[in-house]
Amino acid sequence: MAKTLPVTEMALLSPVPSGPAAAAPPAKTCVISAEIEPEDRQALLDLFARSSPETRRDRFHSALSVFPQRYLEEILNGRQLALAARDTCQEETRGQIIGLASAAPIAPGTAEFAVWVDDAWQGHGVGSLLARAILRLLAQHGVSTAIGIIEPGNLAVRRLVNRVAPNAAARSEDGMIVVSVPLAGWATEPHARS
Ligand SMILES: CC(C)(COP(=O)(O)OP(=O)(O)OC[C@H]1O[C@@H](n2cnc3c(N)ncnc32)[C@H](O)[C@@H]1OP(=O)(O)O)[C@@H](O)C(=O)NCCC(=O)NCCS
Repeated sequence: MAKTLPVTEMALLSPVPSGPAAAAPPAKTCVISAEIEPEDRQALLDLFARSSPETRRDRFHSALSVFPQRYLEEILNGRQLALAARDTCQEETRGQIIGLASAAPIAPGTAEFAVWVDDAWQGHGVGSLLARAILRLLAQHGVSTAIGIIEPGNLAVRRLVNRVAPNAAARSEDGMIVVSVPLAGWATEPHARS
């Protein structure tokens, strides 16, 4: 599938460091949501390695110990739409992927999307940035409905969906919450809508 999303830039607050430095005001950090390249394999494996069991469970609905191989190949070879968030300002994190959004077609006009943020970056707006970007990209590819499958106890993603797609419908299915986002109007969505 063609990758056509222009780079999106946004200024966010850095993760708050632990220890005495935590009291200092966090520095501004550039985060760019951009395409995934084959060279990003190790950065994706590292994102998985840094993720807590809770994050892995919420993302994959099971506390996996290895990155799902088929999923990894599909996002690297472009068979799934995928976008990465990167910290491009701080030298020590250059090259890291700090968040990933992806989407797989599941029926004509419908795709399932998912968002995943490095534990150290959660709560800093990265997930919202990625969610908006993948929804916009899906709309630009002619997808009319995006589906998300959410653990009922995952308050962060429920709040994210409420904010990013307030017109989403939700239903319970097999113990999960299935949110359905209509994508009409998303193709021209401004990059930094809040
Ligand atoms: C869900 C997830 C993608 C959200 O990303 P994020 O970068 O932390 O989200 P944002 O900072 O953009 O915040 C989005 C909303 O979630 C809320 N939120 C973030 N972390 C939260 C937490 N730990 N508990 C409760 N709410 C939280 C924010 O306050 C915000 O809500 P608001 O706009 O009403 O204030 C991220 O927590 C994550 O990767 N979790 C593990 C994987 C996962 O659950 N993926 C989704 C299923 S596919």
